[in-house]
Amino acid sequence: MRQIILLALATTLLLACSQEEKGSEMDGFVDDLMSQMTIEEKIGQLNLITPGGGIPTGSAVSTDVEAKIIEGKVGGIFGVTGPEKVRQAQTLAVERSRLKIPMLFGSDVIHGYKTVFPIPLGLSASWDMAMIEKTARVAAEEATADGLNWNFSPMVDISRDARWGRVAEGGGEDPYLGSQIARAMVRGYQGDDLTAANTMMATVKHFALYGAPEGGRDYNTVDMSRIRMFNDYFPPFLAAIEEGAGSIMTSFNDVDGVPASANKWLLTDILRDRWDFDGFVVSDYTSVNEMVDHGLGDLQAVSALALKAGLDMDMVGEGFLTTLKNSLDEGTVSEEAINKACRRILQAKYQLGLFDDPYRYIDDSRPENRILTEANRSFARDVAARSAVLLKNANQTLPLGRHTRIALVGPLANNKNNMLGTWAVSGDPQMSVPLLEGLQKSLGTNARIQYAKGANISDDPAFAEKVNVFGTRIDIDERSPELMLREALTMANSSDVIVAVVGEASEMSGESSSRSDITLPENQKKLVRALAQTGKPLVLVIMSGRPLALEEENELADALLLTWHAGIEAGNGIADVLLGVYNPSGKLTMTFPRNVGQTPIYYNQRVTGRPNPGDEFQKFRSNYLDVPNSPLFAFGYGLSYTSFEYSDVVIDETSIQPDGQLKASVKVTNTGDFEGEEVVQLYIRDVIRSLTPPVKELKAFEKINLKPGESKEVTFTLNVDDLAFYHQDLRLAAESGDFKVFIGPNSDTDNSTDFRLEE
Ligand code: BGC
Repeated sequence: MRQIILLALATTLLLACSQEEKGSEMDGFVDDLMSQMTIEEKIGQLNLITPGGGIPTGSAVSTDVEAKIIEGKVGGIFGVTGPEKVRQAQTLAVERSRLKIPMLFGSDVIHGYKTVFPIPLGLSASWDMAMIEKTARVAAEEATADGLNWNFSPMVDISRDARWGRVAEGGGEDPYLGSQIARAMVRGYQGDDLTAANTMMATVKHFALYGAPEGGRDYNTVDMSRIRMFNDYFPPFLAAIEEGAGSIMTSFNDVDGVPASANKWLLTDILRDRWDFDGFVVSDYTSVNEMVDHGLGDLQAVSALALKAGLDMDMVGEGFLTTLKNSLDEGTVSEEAINKACRRILQAKYQLGLFDDPYRYIDDSRPENRILTEANRSFARDVAARSAVLLKNANQTLPLGRHTRIALVGPLANNKNNMLGTWAVSGDPQMSVPLLEGLQKSLGTNARIQYAKGANISDDPAFAEKVNVFGTRIDIDERSPELMLREALTMANSSDVIVAVVGEASEMSGESSSRSDITLPENQKKLVRALAQTGKPLVLVIMSGRPLALEEENELADALLLTWHAGIEAGNGIADVLLGVYNPSGKLTMTFPRNVGQTPIYYNQRVTGRPNPGDEFQKFRSNYLDVPNSPLFAFGYGLSYTSFEYSDVVIDETSIQPDGQLKASVKVTNTGDFEGEEVVQLYIRDVIRSLTPPVKELKAFEKINLKPGESKEVTFTLNVDDLAFYHQDLRLAAESGDFKVFIGPNSDTDNSTDFRLEE
C-alpha cells in the first residue's frame, strides 16, 4: 500500500515538474519573442478581425484584412474556413509579417460544425454528459479538419427567462447542471492535448450575467445581487475554468453599471485574482466600441478602460488597434498592461502548438474524411432522439404503430430551412432531414403518410422579414391560410392519427430574437384547434428554441413531443422517437411557464415570507389573481413510454459531520412495458440558514437504463461542499442545521427525508 502511495506521489511530482518545465519553456519562448516586438506589433496581437464569413452581429466588419495581417496587426481571425483559405491567411502571417507570428483561427461552432446537433438547450435536455462531451468532440474533429483552432463555445449563460432568444444556446436555468455541461463541452473541444490537430481551444461565454437582461430583451441592462451572481450565474464559468478552458468572452451587458468588457471587478478581481484564470479574455463582437453608446466615453477612452480592466483581445471593433498607442503616449494605459494582454495571446498560440507548426490544423485530406461522415450523422440522429422531451402522452398515443395511417401536417413537418436551429453558421440546411423524410425512410413500404403544410409558421409578412435575415425561415405560402387548413383537415379526417409539427422558425430564437409573447403564432394555434376538433388522436411535435407557453396545446393534444431544433438528423431522430425505436428520456432544463407573465420562472426560487405552495389563490400571499404559481412543466420534467416507480429515500446516516458524508439512495423500478432510461435527480433544501434558501437545489443526478420489471438502486453521496453557498461577504460555506434531501423524477418531487449537518 505504502509503495503505491509513494509511487502515486512520485508520479504527481513528476507531472507537476514537467508542467512547470513546460510553463517555463513557454515563458522563455514568449519573453524572447516579445523582446523583439514593437509596441505596434504587440497591440496587433490584441486585434481579432473577420473578413465577414460568419455572421456580422455588430455594426462593423473588418477592412484591409490582408494588409493588416502582413503588417502584424492581427492576432486572430474568424469567418475563414477550409484548409485552402486558412492556409492562405496563415501564410500571410507566418511568411510575410515581420515576426511571422501565426494567427488564431476562430469560429462559432455552437452545436456541431457541419454535422449539426440539436441546439444546446436541447442537448442539455438529454442530461447525458458523456453524449454532450462527444458532440463537442465531433464538432472539434470537424472544425479542426477545416483549419480552425479556436471555438467561441461553450455558452454557459444561465437563464431563467424564456423571452430571451439566446436561451437556445445555453444549458438552461440550473447552475449545477450548467456546470456539468460546461465541463463536458470544454473537455470535448480541448481533449487532453491542445496541440493535437483535432482539438481546439474553448471560449466560455458570455462573461457575465448575459442571460438575465431586463425584460428578456437581448443586450439589455442587467442588475443583480452578488449573492445571486455567485450562487446561480457564475458556477458554470468557474467549472469551465477549472476544466482548463483556454479563453473567455465578455458579454455585451453591464454588470453593476459597468459594461462587462471594461469591468475590472469581473475581469480582474474575480476572474484572475479569485479564480486564477490564466487564459485570455476576448471581447464580444464590437462590445468595446459599444461602450461609447453605453455612455462611457469616446473610442479611445473605452478601449483604455477595457484594457485596464483586464480585456486582452478586441473583437472586430479595432478600438485597441487604433487607440492604444495614443493612450500609451498620453499615459492613460501602461506598457505593462499591453504586455500582459499580448503575453496571454501568445501563450494561447503556444499552447495550441502554432509556433511549432502554424499549419498544424491544415490538411487537405481531412475535410473529406472527417466532416459529415456517416458515423457523425448517425450519432447526430441518436442525439436528436435523446434530446427530445415527451411532455404528454395520454392513452399511450405514442409510440405510433408502423401501419398507422398518419396525417403529417404543420409548417415544420417538411421544412429543411428550420431543422438546424440558431447559430449553425457552418451547417447547410439543405443537408438536413425533415420529419416527412425521416418517417418515410423509417417506415419504408409500410408508410401510409399523407402530408399537408396546414399553415405557415406565421402569416405576418413584417414578422417574417425580421426572422428571415439569414435566409428564408418563414415562407409564406401563396395559397390562402383557409385553403391550406382545408387540405390538412381533409387528410386528417382520413387518417388514424394526426402528427402536427408546429413551433418556431429557427431564427425566432437565438441572438437578437427576444419575444414578448412565447406562445405559438396565432395562425398555428388555429391549425391546432381545428385539428383537435376532428376528434382524431392528435400528436404535436413541437420545434422551438426556447420554452413556449403551451397551456392550450396541452389541453387540446393527446401527446406532446418537444424536439427543439434537432439538427441535421432531426427527421430521422424524431421518427425514431415517434415510432418507439428510441424511448424518449429527455427532461426539461428550463421551467415551462403557463404564460409569459410568469417569467422569469425557475424551480430554485428563494422562499418568500408569504409563500403559497398550493395553486389555490390566497389573499395576501405571493401569487397571481389570474394564473397559478406552478409552471405548466417543471424543471427536470419529462415522460417516457414506460413508467418508473421510486421507493422512499433511504439515508445511511441521519447527520453529516463537517468532514463526513452521507449516502442517499432510492430504488427505481421500471413498471411499464418498454425498456427505458430515467434521469434520477437529487435535490436538497437547506431548511434554516442565514440567507433565504432556495426551495430546492439540484445537487446530483444519474441517468439509468431499466428493462421492463427491472429495478436499480441509485446511491448518491453528499458532503459538506454540496451544502455550501455563497454568503453576503462572498464566502463559500455551509451552515449547520436541518436539511431535506429529495430524490425523484423531476424538481416537483416531494419524495424526501431529513438530515442534519453537524457543527
Ligand atoms: C455573439 C457571440 C459570438 C460573436 C462572434 C456575437 O454577436 O454574441 O456569441 O461568438 O458574435 O460571432
